[in-house]
Amino acid sequence: MQPIGPLMIEHRLIERLLHLMAQEFARIKANMEVDPEFAFVDPVFIDTAVDFIRTYADRCHHGKEEDLLFKALAEKNLSPEHRKLVDELIQEHVWAREATASLVKAKEGYLLEAPGALNDLMEHMGKLIEFYPRHIEKEDRHFFIPCMAYFSEAEQADLLARMQEFDRMMIHEKYRGVVESIEQHRGCKTCH
Ligand SMILES: [Fe+2]
Ligand SMILES: [Fe+2]
Repeated sequence: MQPIGPLMIEHRLIERLLHLMAQEFARIKANMEVDPEFAFVDPVFIDTAVDFIRTYADRCHHGKEEDLLFKALAEKNLSPEHRKLVDELIQEHVWAREATASLVKAKEGYLLEAPGALNDLMEHMGKLIEFYPRHIEKEDRHFFIPCMAYFSEAEQADLLARMQEFDRMMIHEKYRGVVESIEQHRGCKTCH
């Protein structure tokens, strides 16, 4: 398998999550049209979707793109067109991180019944639903396949092996982070 294989497989799962998110968006919107006061947002769904985006789409997937594929490409003599595409993709990852943080903030505001929080939540959710398919299409159709031509077969095999190692470490990193954040919270003088 080429190193873009796992990345394309991951795109398919990200699309499935985005499809569920679009369904949730449509459900809330329909409720809002009936009565915005009683439009119910399921905070568990939002938390689950945000965890998926942060852990899987961002750390696991964008992580392999940025830390491995784009880094390896930076050592190649890229065409101006491909160099521009890498820069755009990195900027889009930054945008997605910020939009996800805004969604979390809006969900917290919604739970505290802050005015305008529901509209903010819908705005950020809508933007993420619109963003990911475009970003994925750009990579799948215009970037991944042509950029493989910069690597020899041996380099591709090395990149794939490093991606597998990256994934292997991810679960440990994720749950080490979970424990560390609880430990830090316990040590917080304001709360305890
Ligand atoms: Fe990407
Ligand atoms: Fe991607």
